[in-house]
Formats: sequence, structure tokens, C-alpha cells
Amino acid sequence: MRSPSLLRLFDSEWSDPYELYRALREAGPVQWDSWMRTWIVLGHAEITTLSKDSRLSGARIDSFYEQLPGATKVGLAPLRDALADMMLFNEPPRHGELRRLIRPGLTPRFIREMRPVVEATVNDLLDRAVPGGRMDVIHDFSEPLTRDVIRQLAGVDERHSHLLENWQGLLHEFFTQSQAEIPRINALRDSFAEGERARRDGTATDLFSRMISGQLDGADYSENEIFANFLLLIDAGQATTTHLIGNAVLALINSPDQLRILREDPALGVGAAHEFLRFDSPVQFTSRVALADIEVGGQRIRAGESVALVLGSGNRDPLHYPDPDRLDVRRRAHDHLSFGYGIHYCLGAALAVMETEIAIATLLRRTDDLQVATPEQDWLDSANFRFLRSLPIRFTPA
Ligand code: HEM
Repeated sequence: MRSPSLLRLFDSEWSDPYELYRALREAGPVQWDSWMRTWIVLGHAEITTLSKDSRLSGARIDSFYEQLPGATKVGLAPLRDALADMMLFNEPPRHGELRRLIRPGLTPRFIREMRPVVEATVNDLLDRAVPGGRMDVIHDFSEPLTRDVIRQLAGVDERHSHLLENWQGLLHEFFTQSQAEIPRINALRDSFAEGERARRDGTATDLFSRMISGQLDGADYSENEIFANFLLLIDAGQATTTHLIGNAVLALINSPDQLRILREDPALGVGAAHEFLRFDSPVQFTSRVALADIEVGGQRIRAGESVALVLGSGNRDPLHYPDPDRLDVRRRAHDHLSFGYGIHYCLGAALAVMETEIAIATLLRRTDDLQVATPEQDWLDSANFRFLRSLPIRFTPA
């Protein structure tokens, strides 16, 4: 292929990113993308190896920010501050300390406690949509579901829940150099500041505060660090899960045999959720910056160069998964790469799997004859995120 690049996705030649990845992989598992000015890593083995390599760093916000032109830089400063203290963009030892801020809250016990809350929300949303025989999976179902779960998790007061609506993601904003979400970040910062004292003295009762107040005692977390990681929960937890559910419904409708298998055996639910993640993940790649020269997949990455780990390609690597382009809800593909790998492994993985499992099982139980109501799907223009802007479906109430 002339100038191999992830941005070729926007050429009309490719109907989906997986066809492009397949063509790119023919030239090797690691290649230089001269349009994006980054190495792209396409093989499952190479992505897992590099994800464990401490010569690759996730601290990439400052280097990106420093390259911006003056006016853009000034405009994006609040976004930079909101991102730079997120654990996602920090490295050891601070990374581990920031992870400890939130990790004790997302325990298996917490996930068990959230289960009935998720079940009730899923059923409420379907009570409204099912009798009409049609709905938009994103707008009527998965987006309100994940927004409600994250609102409760992050302790955003119902008065401020509108601040979570149509949240497309801060990372998307930052890397596309858009400033559209800055008023929203400032409003969230104000709403967050209201609870600050109660969080520090341990009297706040919302989930996020209960999660972190034990950690605040005696630890030196700055206000911005706490706010940034609260935003990370909102950002990382919402759009991803919304679109995983959307992509899963589409994949099932396109594979009627798999839909039937899952409907007949709901015990496959957790395994199926992992297969949906492998098959069509909402997050297609994540990036790193090289701190030293690294040899991988027959290439030499030099210190200072950027590296994109193309998780969506690793998930379809035929050297790792037999018949990778086939959805197979019995595959047990728990080693997919969609939650990342290594020290930054997704903290919300169990919550996302639980929400998806319940959403899909309940939808299949309460409807029959699921069909997509539009001939073409409307995908977000992004090489990084695989998000359906909408997914109208029709069905018979069961
Ligand atoms: C990290 C994907 C849901 C919170 C990550 C990473 C990926 C990812 C790929 C690692 C990024 C990297 O290595 O650079 C997803 C997907 C989800 C999902 C596909 C849903 C389908 C959630 C949820 C939450 C969450 C529901 C929170 C409630 C986080 C956090 C990190 C993270 C806090 C940072 C971990 C760290 O840096 O140590 N996620 N995520 N995610 N995710 Fe998720």
C-alpha cells in the first residue's frame, strides 16, 4: 500500500477499519505512519509485548501540547490541566498512586452492588421503548444507561446531570484541538468543588467521595489530581460503554446465528461481552511515546517517537485468533486488547462488562425479530473511536 496510514480509513476504498488493518498487516506488524507521524503496531503479540515495556511512556499530554501553535495552546490550557493529572497520562511512581485513588472503589463487591441498579435502569428504559416496537439503541438505551451509572458512580448531583449529556470524550477534543467542551469542564469543576470539603473530612455520601475519602486522609493528592481523575471516570466510563453496547447490538443483528445462540443460552453473557469487545471495540488504538530506542517486529523505534498500539487490529490478528472476522459468542476471547494491557489496564473493565451483559441479555429477553431500521450505519469520523452516532432498530415486543 502506498503511504500506509490509519487515516486511509477515510478513503472510500475501505468499508470498515478491519479491512484496512488486514491490508496494513500484510506489510508487517509494525509500520511507520507518515501522515499521523507515529509508528502503528498491528499484531496482537507486538501490542502485548510493547504494553509491558517501560521504555514506552503514557505521559504524552505535555509533548503534544508543546507542539501546538500559540493561540490554540492558550485555548486548550484548561483541557490540558484537566488531562495532565489523569492516571492514564502518568507513569510510575505517580501513576500507581493515582490508580490507588480510585481502584479501592471499583471492587468486585461494588460491581455486585451496582448490578441491581443497572438492571433497574435497563428495565426502565426498555419499559418506555419496547411497546412502540422501535428505538434508537444509542439515544434511547445505551447512552442514558451509562450516563446514569456514571452519574451515580462519580457522585454528580442530579441537578448537574445535564453536564454529562452527549459526552463525546475529552481525549477526542484534545487531540482534534477543539475547545468546544471547555465551558462544560469549568461547570463540572464548579460542581465538583462544592463537595470538596465534605470529601476531605469524610462526610460526603456520594459513591465517588466514599471511594476516595479513605485515600485522601494523609495522602498528598492535589485538588486538580482529584478533579482530573473524577473527569477520567466520566470520560472513560461513559462513551466507551455506550458504544460497546451499540456495536454489540449491530454485530448480533448482523450475525443471526450468534444472536440465536445467545438468546438460547444467557449464561454465555459475560463471554459474549468479551467477544463483542474483541470483535468491534469502541476504542481502536491508544498511544505512547518512546523513551529509548526499541526493536520490535523488525523495526527500530527511536527515542522520542510516538507509537499507536492498534488494539482493534490486534483483536483481529489471525496469528492469535482463528477466523478472527467471525463473531463467535462462545469463543471465550478474554485476552482481547480492548481494555489495554499492562499497568494502564482499564479500571472499569468489570463494570463495562456487567453493564453490557445486562443490557444485551435484557434486550434479547424482551424483544423478538430485531432488525436495523436504516440501510447504512452512521459512524463517527474517527480513526481512534468506533462510535455509532445512532442505531435505529425495529423489533416485536416479546
Ligand atoms: C483505561 C478501554 C470502560 C475507566 C482504559 C484503557 C483502555 C480502556 C483501552 C487503557 C488505555 C491505555 O493503555 O492507554 C475501555 C473500554 C471500555 C471502558 C473499551 C468500555 C467498553 C471504562 C469504565 C471506566 C473506565 C466503565 C470507569 C468506570 C478507566 C480508567 C483507565 C482506563 C480509570 C485508566 C487506567 C490507568 O491509566 O491506569 N480503558 N474502558 N473504563 N479506563 Fe477504561
